[in-house]
Amino acid sequence: MADNHFRPMPRIGDPAPDFTAVTTHSPAFRFSEWQGDSWVVFFSHPADFTPVCSTELVEFARRADEFARLNVKLIGLSVDSIHSHLAWIENLKQRLGVEINYPIIADLDTKVAQLYGMIHPGESSTVTVRAVFVIDPKRTIRAIIYYPLNVGRNVDEVLRLVRALQTADAYACATPVNWKPGEKVVVPPPKTVEEVQERLSHRGKDYEVVDFYLSFREQKVA
Ligand code: BEZ
Repeated sequence: MADNHFRPMPRIGDPAPDFTAVTTHSPAFRFSEWQGDSWVVFFSHPADFTPVCSTELVEFARRADEFARLNVKLIGLSVDSIHSHLAWIENLKQRLGVEINYPIIADLDTKVAQLYGMIHPGESSTVTVRAVFVIDPKRTIRAIIYYPLNVGRNVDEVLRLVRALQTADAYACATPVNWKPGEKVVVPPPKTVEEVQERLSHRGKDYEVVDFYLSFREQKVA
């Protein structure tokens, strides 16, 4: 684990590294085959049978239909064993009545965690932080979120992030601060003098033009 500081971490825009692993759904799982044509939300948690992680796993499962409607597959990972994962999933079903219906990778040798830069030695040299990788159907990493061990993630925000990426892709726009589906989007700024004049011509018509570089328009969601 000592070389973690020097291993390049995948970044936004990089191809998502492919790998094989043992998961709760398959002893011979290959990421690229499983992904198919879907988006993926790939998240790590520090450890099984821990409280914050339990709330996160259950919430991802409760919201699985919303992810599925966005063509998103969910997959989790920790450096626990497959036996631990299976026992924990069973326990969560019994205690909280929620089935964890997405696969969880048993990454005992930290192979996948290291490939994705999920172990941050300053936070913990033995377990994964709370990472989220949003991967598009072309297997490009489109967004990365990291949370520390003691703060649970916000599944609403992960869904919002996927919707924002899909909307931006579908309609060649960007999304402003705190954007929610259905709200106005940002029109990409003009790149030439000619485009500046074109943009200003939208003022008072179909765009809300604050200035040439800051315009909004209505947009249905992807
Ligand atoms: C938790 O999920 O509660 C947790 C896991 C690892 C370290 C700290 C908290």
